[in-house]
Amino acid sequence: MLVTTIFAHRGYSAKYPENTMVSFKAALKSGAQGIECDVQLSKDGIPVVIHDETLNRTTNGIGFVKDYTAKQLASLNAGRRFHHAAIPTLKEVLAWISPTNLLLNIELKNKKFPYNEMEEKVITMIHDFQMENRTIYSSFNHDSLIKIAKIDANAETAPLYKKPIPSPWRYAKALRASAIHPNYRSVNKELIDKVHDHHFKVRAYTVNNASIMKKLISWGIDGIITDDPYRGRFCLEQMNK
Ligand code: G3P
Ligand code: MG
Repeated sequence: MLVTTIFAHRGYSAKYPENTMVSFKAALKSGAQGIECDVQLSKDGIPVVIHDETLNRTTNGIGFVKDYTAKQLASLNAGRRFHHAAIPTLKEVLAWISPTNLLLNIELKNKKFPYNEMEEKVITMIHDFQMENRTIYSSFNHDSLIKIAKIDANAETAPLYKKPIPSPWRYAKALRASAIHPNYRSVNKELIDKVHDHHFKVRAYTVNNASIMKKLISWGIDGIITDDPYRGRFCLEQMNK
């Protein structure tokens, strides 16, 4: 039986506005086993869920997320054609996700701006909602992952990366990570086998094409991060028939 975990990237973002509650709720309905969301800090240090460092692409606001308080951010619309979908706070997402069975792949978007004490704030919140056994911390900022491992030795972390890394299991070990999250283009069966031999997991992003999903699933990949979780679940179920 193939057991790849399907993560809804920014929620069910193929159909709903990314990183909004409507998108996360749709991901749950689609059969996804987990969601991925991007976190940054507001001006007053509140973890908020939004992908870009600026508001321009996904909301009716302009400028940097870090220049607005959580209250100001809450008044913006990230819903586009949907009536109103606010930029969620991380707290809001956690309050919703904790009674479900979903896994949470939380991406700390702190490469451009290394937000002050972001790791401490996010980890505290995850513990407050008793989500520590269902959370994976990922980031393109690998120093941040080391910081997370220092704060919480049991935290599951995973470096995100785009270009291939030689022997990524060694790199994961150095970061005290439990998995790697490469771009799917740098994944092949040999890589998955080697990473597994060293007892790490591989979850690839962002996989939206059904034939690529099927190939990765057949190679035994641990997770697929996709904008279309329904398609991911459908491929997995077809292959398990
Ligand atoms: O978790 C994988 C993915 O989110 C990586 O990139 O830019 O979509 O956040 P991005
Ligand atoms: Mg992300």
